[in-house]
Amino acid sequence: MKEMVSIFLVILGLVTSLTAWPGVDEFDVFNYGASGVGQTDDSQAFVHAWRDACNAETHSARVIVPKGGTFLLNPLMFHGPCKPKIIYFIISGTIMASGWPKTWKGHDSSQWIAFKNVTGLNVYGSGLIDGQGMRWWDQSCRYHPDQEGCTKLAPTVLKFLSCNECTLNRIDIVNSPQTHVLIMDSKGFNVDNVMIQSPQDSPNTDGIHIHSSHLVKITNSKIGTGDDCISIGDHSSNIHISNIECGPGHGISIGSLGKDGEMVLVENIDIRDSSFRGTTNGARIKTWQVGRGNIRHVIFENLVFDTVDNPIIIDQNYCDIRGKCAEKASKSGVKISDVAYKNLYGTSSSNIAITLNCSRSVPCSGISMKNINLSSIKPGKSLSASCINVQGTEVGVNPGSCIRN
Ligand SMILES: *[C@@H]1O[C@H](CO)[C@@H](O)[C@H](O)[C@H]1NC(C)=O
Ligand SMILES: *[C@@H]1O[C@H](CO)[C@@H](O)[C@H](O)[C@H]1NC(C)=O
Ligand SMILES: *[C@@H]1O[C@H](CO)[C@@H](O)[C@H](O)[C@H]1NC(C)=O
Repeated sequence: MKEMVSIFLVILGLVTSLTAWPGVDEFDVFNYGASGVGQTDDSQAFVHAWRDACNAETHSARVIVPKGGTFLLNPLMFHGPCKPKIIYFIISGTIMASGWPKTWKGHDSSQWIAFKNVTGLNVYGSGLIDGQGMRWWDQSCRYHPDQEGCTKLAPTVLKFLSCNECTLNRIDIVNSPQTHVLIMDSKGFNVDNVMIQSPQDSPNTDGIHIHSSHLVKITNSKIGTGDDCISIGDHSSNIHISNIECGPGHGISIGSLGKDGEMVLVENIDIRDSSFRGTTNGARIKTWQVGRGNIRHVIFENLVFDTVDNPIIIDQNYCDIRGKCAEKASKSGVKISDVAYKNLYGTSSSNIAITLNCSRSVPCSGISMKNINLSSIKPGKSLSASCINVQGTEVGVNPGSCIRN
């Protein structure tokens, strides 16, 4: 009888461990001691869940941030390389920053949550990531230059550094102290169906910034912040952006490139099927005069503007403080070529709807404009276009004519 019981127990144990087996690749932060009440720091639970997921001897691993929990996190770095080929980081609950800049003492103040050197990472879920940026905005040098101890560098909510074949889906990201999402040194990165939101007057709160990255797709997303909805930085190529609702914010920008006089290359950029509402810019390219290199093969197509200050703008004499960077006689400048604007419609809130301000030393070339109709938000008011040092063609452009063949 005793033997029967022990055999039964052995079998029972075997069955339970077998049924538990498929769950072995799941790493729920609650199982690592997270409180999920939003009051105490849950960072260690996340660090340990990540460590086990990253070292799991399975094809894929899931880190689970459950629905219903609010997880307070200090600055964190999730490092690869990881053993699983695919890691799912599923955020169904809320992840919150402390909101106190002093939490960053002894940490890199440019980041809050960073993923580094992970291949096959997929961050998604119906959850929310809240950067609690208000105190950072209140002490930002951008808007409070005379305030003692004002800060120039504030945390990015989500940094993806050297993440190849990665995705970011569905998540809502709000109130970043500075840039919301940074994709850097990455190859193959898809962002789909995210919502990013911060107040219109929050300083330097870019939605998504892409830097030194290739094969990046951003689709079906709604972005409204105090700075660029999406910006594309130095050394990026094959970037596809479509179905974006941008506003408020500064538009979708290529640049600002070449700030420190470095050689840059940005090419094969496709921005389409998107709308801008109440933004300062729409389709923008901005480069610093001191920069060198190329921006080429860019398409802006099927864009709609509603009450946008500068729907179409190239500023090859970009300066962070207007008028401070006097036009130099030097031969430097980032060459802009082969840029197509096609099927762009809507309203401008300024009187100059099209501004292509290219440099004398490296004029813009191969600029083509086709089927563009912009009108003033003020009924009956006519608009103008201004092109300087631009070579290209235009067909069916209102207001025209700007480009001389
Ligand atoms: C990044 O991961 C690769 C393997 O995917 C590894 O060879 C490399 O050393 C890692 N780099 C760093 C800085 O950890
Ligand atoms: C073009 O750039 C030059 C040099 O920065 C500046 O002086 C000029 O005002 C700009 N023109 C327009 C129309 O923005
Ligand atoms: C441009 O748009 C205005 C306002 O929507 C419209 O009245 C006008 O007919 C359009 N012009 C062309 C050439 O499509």
